[in-house]
Amino acid sequence: MEEIVSKLSVEEKIALIVGAGFSKTVLGAAGETRAIERLGVPSIVLSDGPAGVRIYPARLGVADTFYTTAFPNEIVLTSTWNLDLVERVGKAIGEEAREYGVDVMLAPAVNMHRIPLCGRIFEYFSEDPVLAGEMAAAYIRGVQSEGVGATIKHFVGNEQEEGRMYINTVISERALREIYLRPFEIAIKKANPWAVMAAYNKLNGLYCTQSPWLLTQVLRREWGYSGLVMTDWWAGDNPVEQVKAGCDLIMPGDDGVVKRLLEAYSNGVLSEEVITERARNVLRLVAMSLKARGYKPSHKPNLEEHAKIAYEAAVEGVVLLKNEAALPIAKNARVALFGRGSYWTIPGGLGSGYTYPRYVVSIADGLKERGVAIDPDVERVYMSTMHRLTFIGHSHRAFRQIREGSLRAGDVGTVEYLLLHLADELISWSETMAIQEDFFTEEFLDRVARGSDVAIVTISRVSTEGFDRVPAQGDLYLRDDEQRLIARVSNAFHKYGKKVVVLLNVPGPIEIASWRDLVDAILVIWLPGQEAGRAVADILLGKASPSGKLPLTWFKDPFEAPAMRTYPGEPRDNPVQVVYYEDIYVGYRYYDTFGVEPAYEFGYGLSYTTFEYRDLAVEKASDSIVVRLTVRNTGKYSGKEVVQVYVKPPVGKLDKPFQELKGFHKTRVLAPGEEEIVSIAIPIEHLASFNGKHWIVEKGQYEVRVGASSRDVRLKATIEIENDMCFDVSWRRTPC
Ligand code: BGC
Repeated sequence: MEEIVSKLSVEEKIALIVGAGFSKTVLGAAGETRAIERLGVPSIVLSDGPAGVRIYPARLGVADTFYTTAFPNEIVLTSTWNLDLVERVGKAIGEEAREYGVDVMLAPAVNMHRIPLCGRIFEYFSEDPVLAGEMAAAYIRGVQSEGVGATIKHFVGNEQEEGRMYINTVISERALREIYLRPFEIAIKKANPWAVMAAYNKLNGLYCTQSPWLLTQVLRREWGYSGLVMTDWWAGDNPVEQVKAGCDLIMPGDDGVVKRLLEAYSNGVLSEEVITERARNVLRLVAMSLKARGYKPSHKPNLEEHAKIAYEAAVEGVVLLKNEAALPIAKNARVALFGRGSYWTIPGGLGSGYTYPRYVVSIADGLKERGVAIDPDVERVYMSTMHRLTFIGHSHRAFRQIREGSLRAGDVGTVEYLLLHLADELISWSETMAIQEDFFTEEFLDRVARGSDVAIVTISRVSTEGFDRVPAQGDLYLRDDEQRLIARVSNAFHKYGKKVVVLLNVPGPIEIASWRDLVDAILVIWLPGQEAGRAVADILLGKASPSGKLPLTWFKDPFEAPAMRTYPGEPRDNPVQVVYYEDIYVGYRYYDTFGVEPAYEFGYGLSYTTFEYRDLAVEKASDSIVVRLTVRNTGKYSGKEVVQVYVKPPVGKLDKPFQELKGFHKTRVLAPGEEEIVSIAIPIEHLASFNGKHWIVEKGQYEVRVGASSRDVRLKATIEIENDMCFDVSWRRTPC
């Protein structure tokens, strides 16, 4: 490699550090690097995104199709709390990327769930940095095991979409290190992603992409990261500063950027030494790629196998919020299926997390496939008001034209992007957001209630990058017609002693407290990917017991999160700055410390079965705490349990949250009466907080709290730390 570096001209080095725009070979892939043909350096392809490989299913003049699997979104993956499963999802995504000629995935994303309004909440893992970091590490291990690179993003502080391209995010160093940088640090140390994507926003005054503190001091020096750093697409305002600060690859890149860097070099603003270092990092990434290693993609990934993994993740990601003897339903139950999302289930969020799968199984189709009888009259009403097929038809036609070669290369730019991509997206958006639900007469509902055994009402929402969610009807709140639909269906069914189940097909929490008492059961299915209907049907029928747990606090009122008091920033009508003034008190750290009652707490999720926790033993070794216990299935159904370990610190010099998640474990499937011995090790330094200078584990008694959620603590023990222990920013022991 050094040989190639020594042969490169400055112009070629600069060409390497500026992307070549959207991919021209793999249509729909978000980027490509520039090739240096005379030295045999190929161009490599980068593609979104967290829920699967986001490429178009067609390529110019090629008869093959390139459909990818729509996996459940990240928020679903974390709801499984199952690291092995998430690693398998990553591996399947890696295999699809490899077989379709994608070298680097632009995923996973690990920004925090700081506000319920975040437009990308579905693309992010959690409000807890340990959970998010561990999930990201599992995902990255999976992708990279296939020889494809993963990119952890968006580094850092991109927790809202409003003003994302320029807003100045002000975060204290303590909150940064304990909350916002932490998932990156965990995943980078555990799984070493090939690339890091610097975020759009500013951090404490400088664009992330232009911040030497972030990209060079923290990432390279303190954490010892040696992979590649790229910008988010069109991020920041000065490519010269980006290169100086530590970006190796400016994305998506154009000739204007090349020109600016060349000028900066000629004027002596950018040294050849820095340019060489950045180009070397790009070359290293290229050298690791399958493309450089001569791999020939088959264009035939194992979509059948991956559909099974997508199904498993969707099943395990379902969270049961409420169940008053309504679920599971009997196999021969007659089901009345309400809500548009029952027939057009939303598989995923929009924007760069979008995918083009071969199919999406709706809840109605999933139930039918399992032999469940759906009320045909209700179905007919919904089907007759739908027009989605026409639009899907549009984009399929365009894809066909590409395959046939009648949509020319020149057309495959912005226009085509808008046509294929946005048309489809905007339609699913407007359909789920706007169309009225409540068009049934009393007589109709009464007849349906008499003729069915159970009602299911699906409430759907969709969300996208670029826009935050809206705290208004139709988004975070039910619309009046949806509220009426739930109330009227409940009245009609309860009159005959029949149950009503609500399915939440949502990117993140919606307001629930005002209507949850009207219904008997609530399942959060999130945006569950292409296997949606099959996964949901099997949960409804009890083929699998729900085992998902909330990776974030489900608010009672969206405005109760402290961050909402200043959202979207200052000044309110055109914010240029957002201060994370709640500091480390994000999510349950806030709710638990300040005694606020959410609708459902972090880590919450019911099962059809019950689990007993017993025999807790907590041992302190020199560098870790080992927590052991036994979990037993005491109920009537088989199921998995998520064991969570929280630690409550002693009162010390630093203010600390009431408790913090330090470890977790998902059991295997336990049959009734079966048990599993669970062992969770917590490195002692994970008890530390950042005091402005270094990490400190203060002496005193720590309570180890083991439970089924953050507020359902079943067993407790204490351990004693005799002396303060301090660590520097690279986690080396240091005097306190
Ligand atoms: C998003 C990134 C994405 C990139 C390329 C940006 O708008 O923020 O997450 O990877 O586009 O599509």
